[in-house]
Amino acid sequence: MSTKVFVLPIDPTSQSGSAILPSVDPVELWNTAPTGSKPPKVGTTRIFYNTPRADQGNTNATAVVSLGEGFDKKTGDARRELVRKAVGSGIKQAKELGDGAKDIIVDASTDAHAAAVAAHLAKYKFTLKTSPPSPYKPGDETTVPQELSFQPIQGSKEWEAGVIYADAQNLARTLAELPANMLTPTAFSERVKSEFANIPNTQITVRDEEWAAEKGMRTFLSVTKGTSEPAKFLEIYYNGAAREDQPIAFVGKGITFDSGGISLKPAADMKLMRGDMGGAAAVVSAALAIAKLRLPLNLVVVTPLCENLPGPSASKPGDIIYAMNGKSVEIDNTDAEGRLVLSDALYYTSTTYKPHTLIDVATLTGAVGIALGEVFSGVYSTSDSLWEELRVAGEAEYDRFWRMPLEEDYGPQIHSSNADLCNTGGRQAGSCTAALFLKSFVDGIEPGAGGEDAPLRWAHVDIAGAMQTTRPTPYLEKGMTGRPVRALVEWAKRLGKQA
Ligand code: BES
Ligand code: MN
Ligand code: ZN
Repeated sequence: MSTKVFVLPIDPTSQSGSAILPSVDPVELWNTAPTGSKPPKVGTTRIFYNTPRADQGNTNATAVVSLGEGFDKKTGDARRELVRKAVGSGIKQAKELGDGAKDIIVDASTDAHAAAVAAHLAKYKFTLKTSPPSPYKPGDETTVPQELSFQPIQGSKEWEAGVIYADAQNLARTLAELPANMLTPTAFSERVKSEFANIPNTQITVRDEEWAAEKGMRTFLSVTKGTSEPAKFLEIYYNGAAREDQPIAFVGKGITFDSGGISLKPAADMKLMRGDMGGAAAVVSAALAIAKLRLPLNLVVVTPLCENLPGPSASKPGDIIYAMNGKSVEIDNTDAEGRLVLSDALYYTSTTYKPHTLIDVATLTGAVGIALGEVFSGVYSTSDSLWEELRVAGEAEYDRFWRMPLEEDYGPQIHSSNADLCNTGGRQAGSCTAALFLKSFVDGIEPGAGGEDAPLRWAHVDIAGAMQTTRPTPYLEKGMTGRPVRALVEWAKRLGKQA
């Protein structure tokens, strides 16, 4: 028999609680416990056992969680984040109660979307431990369904959508956490196929190296030369609008392991580079949510997938490669491989699908982590409107972006070798020079001669800092974050509404 746990977020300073449960007034309940002099912070939780609800027939507990002082006066983004924190804290505490299955009933009346997101992110745990038996089954290790189940009080369509957002982010977390031996380019592609198997209006195409060679994707293929693991080039199409509607496009960096190649990385923390496909994981997962939500738009997702290893055929510093668009690129450092796989992917996507908006997501540079830490993903964009849309979506989901400079003045740092471009630009502004490098390969971003808007709006999102969190929040545990899945889905949702 499962334990029932109620999670009730309340504003403890308000006079009376919601009449959500017939026989419990949560504020009255809260006040039965000794109260300190300071008003309780958001997330402070009090657990009560065997609270009235005997009609359910089970023992139960009630976790009353503070939404923080002054919650009632908060609005918009700030209010949503308090709901996420409170619900996340309540779920965390509920998880600890006793053994076995728990049926968690969440009062979602403050904000059903935010409550669903927090509950489903907070219950996530990635483990491959065999004792106690891990829930891992290849293809189904994202959540712990047999242990925790949720049921909203005052749930709604918003709750259902929140579950889709959070499940997508959890999928991206899992893909990033999975070790490189378990998530090769082939395994990644298979996993994506199975995730999309029953999703209407979607189609998955997995290309091989031969196809990429025919297309002239020489910078992409230069990265996979050091490994015997076959590279893959994965495409997802989602058709949610009229066939002829111009699509949006997502491109994700998919290095399933980045050792640095011949320019080998130091051993300490190298295992983190199993997550160097975090960009690919994020765009694929966002696409899954977008398709499940049936958003009214067309979307194409492209992810170049390979390993970056040193080997007898690996690229060497000084090698010069002609990219798919004909530009020559000097590989000064084989560890700057992300921009090599992305250059061909960006050129291919922008010329083949002619999207009106293209967003690429990549764990591209350690430098963005130096600049912004884990708090913001760095955004470089040719479009003020696209930047503004992303900023707003990121704030709404508290999956935040900061705009960084996409400036030709950084050009001399990457234009000073024997080739058109050099794949490194020195220590200074490392994330900015990487972004500028990518810009050379995106077709359609130049404004018209008469000053007309460019046909394509492009944004590059560097998530090397945000991919991992070392400072847990009440609803996001330590580890791979799966960012910026929710921000991307929210952006697409708002875009659909504008059209
Ligand atoms: N995947 C790394 C960037 C990275 C670093 C992601 C830390 C997440 C955490 C990328 O391929 C890389 O190695 N970049 C180099 C570029 C340099 C050689 C120009 C870097 O940032 O040091
Ligand atoms: Mn690298
Ligand atoms: Zn990398």
